[in-house]
Amino acid sequence: MPKMRQEFAPLLTNAIRDGFPFGGFRRIIAVSGKGGVGKTNVVINLAFAFARLHKNVFVLDGDLGLPNIHTLLGLASKYTFSHFIKEQEIPWKFKIEGPTGITILPGLSGNLEFINLGDREKLTLIEKMELITKPTDIILMDTEPGLSSNSLSFNMMASDSIIIITPEPTSIINANALIKQLSSKNKKKKFAILVNFVQNEQEAIEIYKKFAKIIDRTLGHISSLDFLGFVPFDDKLREAVKKQRAVLDMCPHGSSSRSFMAVAKSILEKIARWGEDADYPFLCRPNLEGYPAALNKTDDENHEFNLENYSTEVDHGDKCYVPAGKKPCPSHS
Ligand SMILES: Nc1ncnc2c1ncn2[C@@H]1O[C@H](COP(=O)(O)OP(=O)(O)O)[C@@H](O)[C@H]1O
Ligand SMILES: [Mg+2]
Repeated sequence: MPKMRQEFAPLLTNAIRDGFPFGGFRRIIAVSGKGGVGKTNVVINLAFAFARLHKNVFVLDGDLGLPNIHTLLGLASKYTFSHFIKEQEIPWKFKIEGPTGITILPGLSGNLEFINLGDREKLTLIEKMELITKPTDIILMDTEPGLSSNSLSFNMMASDSIIIITPEPTSIINANALIKQLSSKNKKKKFAILVNFVQNEQEAIEIYKKFAKIIDRTLGHISSLDFLGFVPFDDKLREAVKKQRAVLDMCPHGSSSRSFMAVAKSILEKIARWGEDADYPFLCRPNLEGYPAALNKTDDENHEFNLENYSTEVDHGDKCYVPAGKKPCPSHS
């Protein structure tokens, strides 16, 4: 476990409570919602979409209970999240290189030890993440369903929170509870809403409007929403899951793939506007001066966590990404 400079410990503790402002150019996006709403598929496909838009993406599988990013992409690594948190070693080797431009930190499988991260583990995670994600533009975090403590923490570490809703009332109730928790207890204010499992954009907008009305009535004084986009119900996506591929990779011109590209572009546009708009249109937290600089410093005795010492020691993990039969699906080729 790395030792932190003592004076930064309270800063980090506050960061966990109030949100963690990473350096300005990187965006950390947490994807949340009820179980089964499509979080993991959204994370994977947005990663592909950002990579296609020439961004370097880092994916953290933050569903510590049932991590499955690696399974959905047919990847394997002998190192998992548990090693990442626990071991003194350099963080680089825990990454798996995914498709071009995507790096993945897989979750842990069959190890219950970190299902509930304690404060100390969260600090370690933040500290190591700060190093491992240095060369990336966007960090995408999959999270556990609902209101788990880890999910709340990952949202607080994120600059942006995407909450997925679907036409099912249970997903709406769950999203409402999540926003309530994050905005009232944790003071997070802006949430981007993505509507999954719809027939078309019109249905997505109707569902979003209904949801926005509920939030406005109950939490309007402390939080605000932004319609990020929608993903239509798509059989090709299910097919891709069975084949352990991203639908954007397997079937780039299919309906859900086109939506994922549109959502990724919309996020980048919103990010580009950030700074010009005082109201922070997309979930931005202003950078609190001092945090990133503080985190980049380490004790002399902890010089092993200095990025420069490790920049050449990249280990690509056990298995590199090999797309299974790289053919577009017949109906969209
Ligand atoms: N737009 C969609 N169209 C069809 N099936 C979908 C869509 N989004 C998700 N699914 C399916 O729903 C299931 C749950 O998705 P998943 O991403 O694992 O959800 P979560 O991570 O929120 O639990 C998967 O079987 C997936 O194939
Ligand atoms: Mg999932």
